[in-house]
Amino acid sequence: MDIVVLFAVGLAFVIMSVMIYPIVREKFVDLIAKNVREPKGVAGRIVRFILGKGNAYLENQVVEHLNIQPNHKVLEVGFGSGIGIRAALKKMENGHGRVYGVDISEQMVTCAMKEFKLAVERQRLEIHLGSVMDLPFQDNLFDSVFHTNCYYFWPDLEQGIAELKRVMKPGALMITGVIYEKLKGAADKGFMRYGPHWQPAKYMERLEEGGFMNVTMETVKKASGPSYEIILASKAIKE
Ligand SMILES: C[S@@+](CC[C@H](N)C(=O)[O-])C[C@H]1O[C@@H](n2cnc3c(N)ncnc32)[C@H](O)[C@@H]1O
Repeated sequence: MDIVVLFAVGLAFVIMSVMIYPIVREKFVDLIAKNVREPKGVAGRIVRFILGKGNAYLENQVVEHLNIQPNHKVLEVGFGSGIGIRAALKKMENGHGRVYGVDISEQMVTCAMKEFKLAVERQRLEIHLGSVMDLPFQDNLFDSVFHTNCYYFWPDLEQGIAELKRVMKPGALMITGVIYEKLKGAADKGFMRYGPHWQPAKYMERLEEGGFMNVTMETVKKASGPSYEIILASKAIKE
């Protein structure tokens, strides 16, 4: 008798689990998908931690590719956990350059303000709460611009691209970092549902239509670390 009851309870548990799992999974995927677009609350903190660990290599490599000089003005859009900001600041230790970061997430901005308090006070860094859609900068300001894992979430790709071109100096370089395999894997699992235009080819097309020059994508594989993609795009010297 006891065995029969035990079996019935076990079976009920298995059936319930099978029924509940897709619902729980869907809720989990949706929560993460929302928070990679704009980290908020407790989930945002967890996502910030994961991004900081998972994307540090890409952020650091993108900064290496930029050829930042100590007196440059450099913008990162969608800085998230702030790894790229830290790397760019390092490049300017011996100069009078300045790093600028823009992110739509209040949480990312608050964390960055705390983490980089000294650099902000020394006016080596400006952190802005805002969107790539409407950048709070004058025309032709930046020597270089970068962003990693970000363009997918812009509400209007053309508008974001036009804004970035507007604030770049003539001849300035923009580098976009992605890890295509990882991105595709995330999209396949439903994590890119709030980042619909994640395909690099579409983004590159928009860059060219938006007047960027020499738009190319390179896959880079170094001795250590995973392979990653950089999309290079320059603002024309004369328009
Ligand atoms: C997936 S996270 C990537 C963060 C970091 N770059 C990395 O690779 O780990 C996307 C970041 O872009 C920010 N973001 C999303 N849409 C944005 C927009 N329209 N303008 C500026 N930042 C945006 C989010 O708040 C988030 O911090």
